[in-house]
Amino acid sequence: MSAILPLLAQSFAGSAPSASTVSGEVDALFFTLVAITAFFTAGVAIAILYLAIRYRRRSPDELPPHTRVSIALELTWTLVPLAIVIAVFVWGSKVYFHMNRPPDDAMTVTVVGKRWMWKLQQPTGQREINELHVPVGRAVKLVITSEDTIHSFYVPAFRIKRDAIPGRYVQAWFRATKPGVYHLLCAEYCGTDHSRMTGRIVVMEAHDYEAWLAGGAPPESPLAAGERLFAESGCATCHKADSADRGPSLAGIYGKKTTLTTGEAVPVDDAYIRESIVNPAAKVVQGYQPVMPTFQGLLSEEQLLELVAYVRSLPPPPAAAPSPGGPTTQSRAKGTKS
Ligand code: CUA
Repeated sequence: MSAILPLLAQSFAGSAPSASTVSGEVDALFFTLVAITAFFTAGVAIAILYLAIRYRRRSPDELPPHTRVSIALELTWTLVPLAIVIAVFVWGSKVYFHMNRPPDDAMTVTVVGKRWMWKLQQPTGQREINELHVPVGRAVKLVITSEDTIHSFYVPAFRIKRDAIPGRYVQAWFRATKPGVYHLLCAEYCGTDHSRMTGRIVVMEAHDYEAWLAGGAPPESPLAAGERLFAESGCATCHKADSADRGPSLAGIYGKKTTLTTGEAVPVDDAYIRESIVNPAAKVVQGYQPVMPTFQGLLSEEQLLELVAYVRSLPPPPAAAPSPGGPTTQSRAKGTKS
């Protein structure tokens, strides 16, 4: 058994190098599962063969002797597998949570899947197609969406695979451990050129990455573009930071909870902001009328991501104490409960 593990690891590593901080954890769990499965499959197969020969019928009129149920045996083959699956579950959950919680200091890269290419944008604004440059050792958070059908963002070397779903923001993150060039694939059949929807992740030393960023024309950052769109699309008319008449103030709402007309409290995250732009009537904040027009079809997925980046960046209003002038979303939410 112990000989199989390194052999499997070797053949697997040959096709996909291990180049992120989670890939070791994922591999350890995966190969342990393979080892457990192989052990029990072999054990059951050997037991079947042995018992079939040992207890075979030796004459045509032979009757098997009466046997009693062995409680000890029943308990053993129930409790041992139970302990194993619970251990695998706990271990798997730990790896899962680690893979799904981006660190706070992560840089955000947006990913839009489209038939048949990956469109990516750096936090500083540089756009890339089918290619992503990242610095080694830095946590990179991916906000993934699609503008047509379901794709799947797959980087085998980082052990990342996340579906890109139209109308939804899906998160993933990685921290590359080795400079190099790694495959980026689409892992969800999405039509004619699905198999060509490939790209590469270029992991660079920090100073090389800075040099790469500095090359070319200075781009507009997602935040600046979001601010521009916010003004151009007329959002500021109703969502002014200082007025609270037609639409709620958006200052400092990101990451908090807001109370809806239904009384339900929902977290203000990327997905909520996106939904509130394309389908404003879906979740109206308590105290407001569903007067906002939809921006469905008027803004591209990239523009929506830029607007979300802008709203995310808005600081809370300076007066943290309850002010008589304009109630914040927070104090409004509290007021409705009392
Ligand atoms: Cu996109 Cu397959």
